[in-house]
Parts: sequence; structure tokens; C-alpha cells
Amino acid sequence: MDIVLSGIRSTGHLHLGNYFGALRNFVKIQDSYRCFFFIADLHSLTTHPHPDDFHANVRIILSEYLASGLDPEKAVIFVQSDVPEISELYVLLNMLSYKGELERTTSFKDKVRLAKAKARNKPLNEISYDDHDDEGININAGLLTYPVLMASDILAHRSNFVPVGKDQEQHLEYARVLARRFNNTYGCDIFPEPRALDFGSGLIRVPGLDGSGKMGKSQGNGIYLCDDDRTITKKVMKALTDSGPVGPDSPMPECIANLFTLLELVSAPDTVDYFRGKWRDCSIRYGDLKKQLAEDICNTVRPIREKIDSVYNDDAYLHRVTGEGREKARASASETLALVRKAVGFKSF
Ligand code: ADP
Ligand code: TRP
Repeated sequence: MDIVLSGIRSTGHLHLGNYFGALRNFVKIQDSYRCFFFIADLHSLTTHPHPDDFHANVRIILSEYLASGLDPEKAVIFVQSDVPEISELYVLLNMLSYKGELERTTSFKDKVRLAKAKARNKPLNEISYDDHDDEGININAGLLTYPVLMASDILAHRSNFVPVGKDQEQHLEYARVLARRFNNTYGCDIFPEPRALDFGSGLIRVPGLDGSGKMGKSQGNGIYLCDDDRTITKKVMKALTDSGPVGPDSPMPECIANLFTLLELVSAPDTVDYFRGKWRDCSIRYGDLKKQLAEDICNTVRPIREKIDSVYNDDAYLHRVTGEGREKARASASETLALVRKAVGFKSF
């Protein structure tokens, strides 16, 4: 059976973008593949979270995974740092990774620009990647080798498919480069080349409610799975709109198209049709559209939120899930590492 693996960094609560772009698909495929889903806590260390928050952040993602329907009876659910084999593979793959290609990674360049903008208190568009490095700026080697660690996550289980969003395509490509390079360097056939998993409907990009761009943790425009009805309603009612369509062929501005994208994700098809009709004949009232959208988002999020609370506080359950996950993930990764060590030339005396 093909192996599927994916993970999310433990850097804060999950939002609707994470749910519709990633989690919901994880839940759908856990019956059809041998699935590994994990919490990427090592990856979260690039930004140096405070030790007091580190564990709680893992617990948050774990609870939100389980509350959204990931089932430990069907999928292996584990914490990245519980599987030391991943870190060992990371050391070995680092020897096959070149500084030049890592420096060309888009996400690395973006993070460098962001760090420089912050250090200089300047807007991002005034900062170039090639500017000199500021004294004391945090561009650590972990950030540079982020794709190597991600490749190690994927290759440790010899995964065939990786369900991730568009923003992760370049990282996945690098995992393929390293799989090929390892196999060629050591004359073996240990690693399959991991591919993105296509869900038929294409990759979804959940927009924010602030007019343009995607919903994201760092964009500060998220509707979170842990938000209560009042918070959600407040966020939706504040969404940016325009002054309304002026004629039957008015082009739809991005801020309104975004509301419809969200409506399509959470509402019944006839509700979407109803408001599309209202847009076309220029009788739409944005207040009504937002009220409906808020109600349908609340109905989607509420059952998940209620579960999050009970799972988050269930120490025994979380202990059991992560214990079983650790055991299964380590068993799978150690099999790979035994092959890898042999190929590289390790031998015991
Ligand atoms: P964020 O951008 O909020 O920091 P992450 O980068 O941790 O989120 O993403 C975790 C997963 O959720 C990835 O698979 C990513 O592609 C998906 N994802 C995040 N935001 C969105 C969005 N707005 N629309 C669709 N998928 C998203
Ligand atoms: N880089 C991914 C993200 O930011 C998280 C991640 C880490 C991941 N390792 C992975 C995703 C392995 C898929 C497979 O969203």
C-alpha cells in the first residue's frame, strides 16, 4: 500500500486555511493509504519558541488534529521529536545538500528578507535578499536546512505521497532531489521519489477576510478552529467589502470573491447560488451575506471546537495516542535507517 505522510509545524492554533487546505484532506485519505501524520515541533525551533510554550504548542496541534477527525486507529499520529531516526537521517542528508541550492529556496529567501525588515524596522518591499546581514540577526542554519529536515521527515518512511499546499511544492521537489541523489551516490534504490497528492479538485487556497491574500497565522487574519461563535461572527462581520455591484456585468472585486470562496467551502450549494443570483441582479446586501457566512462557519467549526476542548484536557488519551504513534513511527523509520546505514557503510564491530 502506498505511504502518505504530512505534518504541520507547532506554531499556533490551526485556522480554516489549515483545515480546508490540509487537515480535511488528511481525514479523507486515512482510509485509503498507510498514513503518517505528525507535528513538526523540530521545525518550529527555527524561531526559538520559549521553552514554557513549546510543549503546549505541540499539545494544541495534536488536539486539533484529533478533534478534526484524524483517527489513531487508522493513521500513525506522532510527534517529530519523538523519532530520533529523523534527526539521524537529517545529518546524513545534510552531507548531500549544497549551500547554493538551499540558498535558492524561495521560503528561505522570504524569511531572510522578513528578518532583515524586522531588524531594520523597514517595510518588506524596501529589503532585498542580497542586502548585508545585520549584527545579531536570526538567520540560523536550521532555517537554511529546513528543506533537508523536511526531506528527512518524508524519506524516513519512504513515503510515496505528501499532501501539502502549493507553498510547499519547492520543498517537496527538494525531497525528490535528495532521494535521487542518495540512491545514485550509494548505488541503491532505497528511496521512492515522493509526489504531491492531488485531490482532484486542485489545491485550495483559503483567502483571508481582509480583502486580499491567503488566510495565515502570520497574516493575522485567521478564523481559528478554537474560535467561539461570537469571535467568528465578529471577524466575519468586519470583513472588507466594497460599495456593491453597479450593473449586471460588474466585475467582482477580490474582497467579495473571497467571501464567495469561503461560502463555497462552508455553505450548502443552494445558499451559494442564492447569493450569486443576488450579486448578478445587483440586489445583494453584504450584511445578509456575511450573516449567512458567519452562521455557516460557526456550524462547521463548532463541533470541532467542542471536541478540541475535551481532547486537550484528556492527558491519558493524548499519552496513549502519542505513545502508540511513537512506537509505530520509530519502527517504520528504523527499518529505513538500517538500510541507509548499510548503504553509507556503517558497520558494527
Ligand atoms: P500558516 O501559513 O498559517 O503558517 P502553515 O504554513 O503552517 O500555515 O501550513 C500548514 C498547512 O496548511 C500546509 O499544508 C499549508 O499548505 C496549509 N495552508 C495554510 N494556509 C492555507 C490557506 N490559506 N489555504 C490553503 N491551505 C493552507
Ligand atoms: N514545511 C511544512 C509547512 O510549513 C511542514 C512540514 C514539515 C511538512 N515536514 C513536513 C509537511 C513533511 C509535509 C511533509 O507546512
